[in-house]
Amino acid sequence: MEVTYVLVTIDQIAKYVGQEVKMGGWLHNKRSSGKIQFLQFRDGTGFIQGVLVKKQVEPEVWETAKQLTQESSLYIWGTVRADERAPSGFELDVHKIEVIQIAEDYPIQKKEHGVDFLMDHRHLWIRSPKQRAVLKIRAEIIRAIQDYLDQHGFTLVDPPILTPSSCEGTTNLFHTKYFDEDAYLTQSGQLYMEAAAIALNKVYSFGPTFRAEKSKTRRHLIEFWMIEPEMAFVDHERNLEIQEQLIAHIVTHVLNHCKSELKTLGRDIEKLEKIKAPFPRITYDEAVELLHKEGFTDFKWGEDFGAPHETKIAESFERPVFITHYPTEIKAFYMKPDPARPEVVLCADLIAPEGYGEIIGGSQRIDDPTLLAERFEAHNLPKEAYAWYLDLRKYGSVPHSGFGLGLERTVAWICGLEHVRETIPFPRMLYRLYP
Ligand code: 4AD
Repeated sequence: MEVTYVLVTIDQIAKYVGQEVKMGGWLHNKRSSGKIQFLQFRDGTGFIQGVLVKKQVEPEVWETAKQLTQESSLYIWGTVRADERAPSGFELDVHKIEVIQIAEDYPIQKKEHGVDFLMDHRHLWIRSPKQRAVLKIRAEIIRAIQDYLDQHGFTLVDPPILTPSSCEGTTNLFHTKYFDEDAYLTQSGQLYMEAAAIALNKVYSFGPTFRAEKSKTRRHLIEFWMIEPEMAFVDHERNLEIQEQLIAHIVTHVLNHCKSELKTLGRDIEKLEKIKAPFPRITYDEAVELLHKEGFTDFKWGEDFGAPHETKIAESFERPVFITHYPTEIKAFYMKPDPARPEVVLCADLIAPEGYGEIIGGSQRIDDPTLLAERFEAHNLPKEAYAWYLDLRKYGSVPHSGFGLGLERTVAWICGLEHVRETIPFPRMLYRLYP
């Protein structure tokens, strides 16, 4: 028998069937029949069951296994056996254990805990199979996004986190002092990405953004991560095509690379398999009409959609749906009015299916300096603070578009999670800054 002394990880275990391996990890769970102990062992890359038969192991190994508490850390030696009945497809016939630490009474038990308790113990909760699966899928979604953008000629550009002015309105800015000046945590890197698109053509940023929103909903975080592509010479229509291609790519990537994690989460895979480009597009006007037919008779043209409206609209589609051409009045100052109908803008929100809400907001940007100056007046924005942004329209202005993809809402949708709080390792929410 070949003996391996390097640490083998559970995700690589298939290569070691019939071989002796050493692994490092933690005890997740255990049960015993008196003659056999079953150790659920995890190493961060996966879970595997270790089997100890009393008659076949040294008495001290048997006794060591009996002492193990949940989350005790250990090295374990055993022979890998393929077993169709095992959830991972493999088991380990254990014959040696070296304890690193016997863990104290672990606060998170198999029973149901309240969300506040779990959130207070988020640093431990992330070890559980479901939370681990979410974080793995989050990482794969990031990888898929970066792969797609890198392969399609985009350059990664990092906008600043500390900013002197707002991008998405002043109501939810996080204020801080910047020596003697006032500064704000970024709500969106978009304005800087517009400068970068003129310098590098197709660019994207990926970073944390902050919104001091006093809303306690299942879709809002105070700190969330956004991917913000910005493209020179791209109009509204092409902007939507790029978004649907990107989303379809993300879903395919997750289906190809995260099958076991999706299974752990009990995600309905058939629903994800239907996510193929192109996605349906409806105008804001059509969405309002749809809402009226569906019983939201009070909804008035010019209002913004709330979560119940978005959910109702999404119910009519199996794929994500673009809602385009919102009223100019309710959208950001930088969005380009439709030349044929200036009361609406060339923008779109992408609404995920199954009630997960808006995952992308994007638009074609105003490229005309006079019109942009008018919008600044209308929104009461201090021109001095944005002088650099106005420069972009003076020196070689071109048609350009971009969008912001909210990572956590995308993860919530793909993982099938009720609430965005589980999509980020350490969520920052209204009244939660710990751990
Ligand atoms: O629609 P938003 O506010 O768009 C922007 O910030 C643009 N400047 C982006 C751009 O064009 N470059 O936000 C974009 C996305 C939303 O669709 C949503 O997915 C997510 O960011 N988002 C949030 N996610 C979690 N918590 C919050 N509080 C969020 N606010 C927005």
